[in-house]
Amino acid sequence: MIFIQALRKFQQGLDNKILRIIPRILTFRIFLSNINARSKKSCGAGSRERKLELGSGEPGPRPWKVVRRQRWLIPFLRDSQPRQEIKASRLGSGGFFVLVVSGQGCPRHENGFEQAEEFEMEKKKKVTILEIGAMKQAGEKITMITAYDYPFAKVVDDAGIDIILVGDSVGTVIQGVPNTLPVTMDEMIYHTRMVARARERALVVFDLPFMSYQASLEQAKQNAGRALKEANAEAVKLEGGANMAETISAIVNIDIPVMGHIGLTPQSVHRLGGFKVQGKDERTRKKLLEDARAVEEAGAFAVVLELVPAEVAKEITEMLSIPTIGIGAGIHCDGQVLVLHDLLGLYPARKLKMVKQYANLYEESRKAVEQFCKEVKEKKFPGPEHSF
Ligand code: KIV
Repeated sequence: MIFIQALRKFQQGLDNKILRIIPRILTFRIFLSNINARSKKSCGAGSRERKLELGSGEPGPRPWKVVRRQRWLIPFLRDSQPRQEIKASRLGSGGFFVLVVSGQGCPRHENGFEQAEEFEMEKKKKVTILEIGAMKQAGEKITMITAYDYPFAKVVDDAGIDIILVGDSVGTVIQGVPNTLPVTMDEMIYHTRMVARARERALVVFDLPFMSYQASLEQAKQNAGRALKEANAEAVKLEGGANMAETISAIVNIDIPVMGHIGLTPQSVHRLGGFKVQGKDERTRKKLLEDARAVEEAGAFAVVLELVPAEVAKEITEMLSIPTIGIGAGIHCDGQVLVLHDLLGLYPARKLKMVKQYANLYEESRKAVEQFCKEVKEKKFPGPEHSF
């Protein structure tokens, strides 16, 4: 009797084990064959990239868009290892990848399975001035950020930014000068070339520096031409409203897209008496509306509104058919721009109301260099793994 009971228990245990293990094997096989099938399918020359990533969280606003999403159960690979740490593996080359998200935040099932999400993703289209215009019509916000060199241009392009502005703010955030006035055409070309080399998707806009377009229409056309020809930009930006309308049309008429810039125009800092909010009273509000209209009529494809009261920016945004891109101009603009170094917190001392600091790279970088110094002094670096 005892023997039979023991046999039954053994059999039940075996059954349970078999029952538990079979679906695991089956699902894992499906999982693997799915991956294999994907890697084999349509990975032909220039077609699609397939990449499997085991990571966490839904893919962000990257230059990828989700074209298919599927939920499924997969067995734990190793209970002790969080899935986020499992490295991505590439499955082909081209413009397509599959992302499997699981682990933390995904419900774990009692039977040893966890829920995973698979995203098939396609790279978003290259941004042109047409897409920028279409975004306003579709009510989709436009993102713009400055960059001045290859590595940061790559970061922002990979992050899915719509427009990279190689701003003459290079003077203040890279060169360490107090305003943008000393920046030259040659310096702008040098920086824009680096940025353009990293750009895959974003529209690259070249900021025409002080005295590169104000002297004559001829000068403006020549320098706008250099921005495209020598620096590989796709559009130029210049500061000024009604006073620059003729210059904007002259450049647009030689088929170079122009982005306008009104409100606080930093190249006019001395006339304006400092970096101040513009359009606060009725007279300057009207002037701003006139400037905005003039820039649009001259043929600009978009206009930056800098340091303008939110209500005035709203009025301009509703009045224009081209997109407005705000900096210190409130929520109603069609898009937003920030100086990259402000957003990343590379200048802790430069505190500006219009900026939201999304990281503290100054602190991170200083700590890293301090650690390096310490390890060299303490003879801890280089270790055997860094030596030949
Ligand atoms: O130069 C620059 O960075 C700019 C932005 C602030 C719009 O003009």
